[in-house]
Amino acid sequence: MSKTAFMCNDCGKEFGRWVGMCTACKGTDIKEMKIVNTKDKNAAKRSWVEQTSSEIKKNTEIRNEVNQSSRIQTGLQEFDRVLGGGLTVGSVVLVGGGPGVGKSTLLIQSVAYMSSNNQVLYITGEESLSQVVNRADRLKLNTDNMGFLSETNVEKIIEKSKEISAKILVVDSIQTIYTDSSSSVAGSPSQLRDSTGMLVSYAKANNISIFIIGHVNKEGDIAGPKILEHMVDTVLAFEGDEGGRYRMLRSTKNRFGQVNELGVFSMTETGLREEKNPSAIFLSSQVETAGSSIMVVREGTRSLLFEVQSLISPSYLENPILVPIGLNFQRVRMILAVLQKHGDIKLFGNDIYLNIVGGMQLSSSETSSDLPLAFALYSSNTDKILSKKVASFGELSLAGEIRPVQAGEDRIKEAQKHGMKYIIVPSQNTNDKMIEQYKEKIKIIPVKTIGEAITALEAIN
Ligand code: TYD
Ligand code: MG
Repeated sequence: MSKTAFMCNDCGKEFGRWVGMCTACKGTDIKEMKIVNTKDKNAAKRSWVEQTSSEIKKNTEIRNEVNQSSRIQTGLQEFDRVLGGGLTVGSVVLVGGGPGVGKSTLLIQSVAYMSSNNQVLYITGEESLSQVVNRADRLKLNTDNMGFLSETNVEKIIEKSKEISAKILVVDSIQTIYTDSSSSVAGSPSQLRDSTGMLVSYAKANNISIFIIGHVNKEGDIAGPKILEHMVDTVLAFEGDEGGRYRMLRSTKNRFGQVNELGVFSMTETGLREEKNPSAIFLSSQVETAGSSIMVVREGTRSLLFEVQSLISPSYLENPILVPIGLNFQRVRMILAVLQKHGDIKLFGNDIYLNIVGGMQLSSSETSSDLPLAFALYSSNTDKILSKKVASFGELSLAGEIRPVQAGEDRIKEAQKHGMKYIIVPSQNTNDKMIEQYKEKIKIIPVKTIGEAITALEAIN
């Protein structure tokens, strides 16, 4: 039997007829889907609720469990840091990324390393077993102790995993997996939700760690209902320019570590290589041109230096365009408005381009890049070249004030470590004692407003 149903793309709730708004989560993204054969509708829901225990425990018991839940190193320090210090035993990690970014490569490299001490099962629903093993051999990985399985049915995956008592699973990819308890096709929102749910409850009930690989849509979100991200412990986004060398792995959710933690890799002929000193590679361009400025941003628990470049040129279009690459569009618009109003910079009738060197994407919550972005725009607008020895950070308010950001001193240290001689910072991020303490290494210049900041910048250059 085949019938049409509707589903909320955010939470996965199903409806018999089309509705404008989801009754469960108030989402408005309602998608039509074909149900091939309708069986027990509640089976899936039951199957992943059943295994969660409802025992009341003492805090000592819980502490003991936490202490026992150890971390497994992945063999890649950058990967370990993004996970919050290695893979937590019994956790489910969703790794999303576009086609060809290197998801399968990252995981085969790390689980091959982990397989020396842990039973690993690599499940592929996408490539053939020989493709997976060929890749591993090309990367010269030792996979002798690992199991490989070509399977897309989640019940069979769990059964096979039990057979070999696997402790770590890789599911490549969730979009190819289906469960018997749901009647829609693999990749549909309800299949994604139910299959993920079964994997999560299997992991939790048996203290098994699972990496789930997921494809992403055009916006860079995991293809499937948002609820997938709520179900798992950790969500990682793997990004990089197609054809480019660098790959960025970022935690967007982590129950066992910091969010926005960033790991940087480069894709080489022999697989992914970790870049332990990202600031050094992203600052490598030594050409001094107008429109470029150095920023110190905070990614998770570390400070990093990036170069931002801007180009402002008279538009030949009726409606000038704004192209911010690797940056939050709304924030850039706000900075432009503040500059027009408080920085005496005329941007009218110009096309504006902004780009972070090296294909880097700043996390969307980053505000400390405001001041360096304003400097880059100022530099391009006035054609004044800024010295590559000057870095800055600071949030810009609508009134043109420079507001403090977290981890000021750590950012200053990172700038100094990479040879910066001057750093322009929000006045509330420093004090006389700090300025005195660093003066031999780097000159700290505190500023309160965008006007003061530009005056300070002009005085250096
Ligand atoms: P892959 O891990 O298959 O990507 P995903 O699983 O995210 O789709 O990696 C695909 C790309 O990586 C492919 O274009 C080739 C490139 N690559 C290398 O450059 N070097 C390597 O050693 C490997 C394994 C892949
Ligand atoms: Mg793949």
